[in-house]
Amino acid sequence: MKSLSYILSIAAISFIFALQVKATEQHADTQKLDAQAKKLIKKFGGQLKSTLTSEIKQNGLVAAIKVCKIKAPEISDSLSDKVTIGRTSLKYRNPDNKPDDISKITLMDFETQKQNNGNVSQIEKGQFIEKDGKKVYRFMKAIETGGLCLSCHGESLTKEVAEQIKTDYPDDKATGFKLGDIRGSFVVEIPVEQ
Ligand code: HEC
Repeated sequence: MKSLSYILSIAAISFIFALQVKATEQHADTQKLDAQAKKLIKKFGGQLKSTLTSEIKQNGLVAAIKVCKIKAPEISDSLSDKVTIGRTSLKYRNPDNKPDDISKITLMDFETQKQNNGNVSQIEKGQFIEKDGKKVYRFMKAIETGGLCLSCHGESLTKEVAEQIKTDYPDDKATGFKLGDIRGSFVVEIPVEQ
């Protein structure tokens, strides 16, 4: 009897130990994935912003609308092939950027976090999901609405900008944002070997 309980407790301890090792391994994995995602977001966000700024300066806001439409996917394609990067939002302009159910929950959670502690630049989330039958690590990072963004996503747009947006995106939901609001989120997806 005594030896049985001894064996059982050893088995239990080994099991718990194995679980902990697994948890630690997974933690190390997600840290690496987070770092990879953040690096890509920095590149993508940086290139997008500089392209947008220079186009506005050179050709004006209305021309820059087109740039945003064409350049964003171009830049994201150029950065990586297996890993994907894009943007999403609860109030999206391009229907292609509509969040799926999981991203929607994450975006709503981001809004709650902002209400609780306010610091949009710190809001992010990584999670393993299944997409088209494959395991993927999805990392999302909130995007803050800055001054530059208001001319196309703010509460009052010029007549020309509003008209062009209406023409290109008849179902646009992405206006009415205020400085500091969460405009949306970057979405990085990294395929995970199984
Ligand atoms: C010149 C107008 C313009 C400016 C300025 C602008 N955007 Fe956009 N934004 C657009 C257009 C047009 C789209 C739709 C792009 C597409 O078709 O994918 C868009 C899409 C987005 C999306 C993807 C989700 C969606 O609504 O489809 C995010 C996120 C976004 N913008 C954030 C920003 C932020 C943050 C800034 C300020 C740094 C900014 N935008 C400045 C025009 C603009």
